[in-house]
Amino acid sequence: MTTTTTFPIGPAPADAPPAPAHVPAELVLDTRFANGKIANDLADPYLTCDVMRSAEMPRIHFYPWPSPGAEHGSWVVSHYDDIRRVYEDHTLFSTKGAAQFQALAGETFPSIPLGIDPPDHAKYRKFLNPWFTPVAMKTMEPRIRATIGGMIDSFAQKGEVDASHDFGRVFPVRVFLDLMGFPFTMFDQFLAWEWDILHEDSLATKAAAVTGILAYLRGFIAEKRASPDETLGSFIANGQIEAENQDGKRPLTDDEVIGMTWFLWLGGLDTVASTVSQMFRRLAMDQALQQRIRADRSLIPTAVEEFLRMQPLVNSVRLLTTDLEWHGVQMKAGDTVMCFNSSGNFDEAQFDAPHVFDPERKANRHFTFVGGVHMCLGAHLARRELRVLLDEWFTRIPQPFRVKPGADTTVVPGLLSVRNLPIVWEV
Ligand code: HEM
Repeated sequence: MTTTTTFPIGPAPADAPPAPAHVPAELVLDTRFANGKIANDLADPYLTCDVMRSAEMPRIHFYPWPSPGAEHGSWVVSHYDDIRRVYEDHTLFSTKGAAQFQALAGETFPSIPLGIDPPDHAKYRKFLNPWFTPVAMKTMEPRIRATIGGMIDSFAQKGEVDASHDFGRVFPVRVFLDLMGFPFTMFDQFLAWEWDILHEDSLATKAAAVTGILAYLRGFIAEKRASPDETLGSFIANGQIEAENQDGKRPLTDDEVIGMTWFLWLGGLDTVASTVSQMFRRLAMDQALQQRIRADRSLIPTAVEEFLRMQPLVNSVRLLTTDLEWHGVQMKAGDTVMCFNSSGNFDEAQFDAPHVFDPERKANRHFTFVGGVHMCLGAHLARRELRVLLDEWFTRIPQPFRVKPGADTTVVPGLLSVRNLPIVWEV
């Protein structure tokens, strides 16, 4: 992976995949730095993405590399209003084909709920929602608090921890495994599979990981059918959903069960972990911010929202359902459109002083959980984990912490952001 802090925009290099014939050559650009592909060492790792909204940039350009949900490159929108249009108009911009890594392993089931458009989408959300409401989170909170508190206590007196690898990476995955009913013994294997699926370039490596996890999940589902329990995994494996003829309920089909279990595994496993590692990196590098939140815990909810805005992990892709001319660009049905949340979350047209971290920011309507009907199902869980984490941390480690001298603070502005983040405090 290249590490740099300057990103001149230029045409895509000669070895980039070819763009379709209807895409003007001058719009095919190398913007991988704004799509979480290139590490940098800036205190605000997304600062470089501002160039996406500069006068020298076309309003819409073409990104020739594949991304999850787009095998052949995508059109890219980077302005807040354009991104909002894509998320909110699900008739024009479909999620069909989204997160279909399973196709690499010859599977045909869709990812549920992300890969399903309205109106069908609503019935799956209705089925899953009770597990993710603020009320459900309140019930989960004591266990989340105990998991986090216990982990912090195990290193508080050492004056040092790798906040990314040994802490931030571990506790959210523990919470997620607990919720689903997956055994903790699968921790390392799950993360290895996820890494291969999301970050390895080789299609064979990705396909092997998909095959591995799906075989595991099918075995897990069979177990939960044989011995149901109180976990979300069991609820799905034995699930009943509204019948299409509105006449009561019917059991979920096998494709629906694996489609939901698989997508929850993919979407829920370590998104919070990546958020935690970037959050601690920022706090460790910004003593004034750290002190302000430590001194006034009532700021935690709005500060968490600001961390989320300032560190969007994913740029989402949609499938265009009809031909469309937009900002002077002719797109065709079947093209994909990618939303650079890495730019939209910093659009001055929507956010005052977007690069100032304001722990009290009001009406913080960012795209880190996207928008429209596919707004992240796990958003309340993620928020709750992050809030509890800050609260427990400042209670158990009231001393200021900073990056361990000499440590590498390189970050990928996207998923699996910081591998290691050693931080230190006085004991
Ligand atoms: C900070 C943590 C998280 C972030 C940044 C995040 C981000 C996202 C994003 C960007 C999407 C929309 C994808 C798209 O439209 O293309 C999404 C959807 C989703 N997320 Fe999350 N997520 C997080 C945590 C979680 C957790 C913990 C879970 C489950 C335990 C989860 C489950 C889902 C599901 C099921 C969807 C699909 C919703 C739908 O299609 O209706 N997410 N998430």
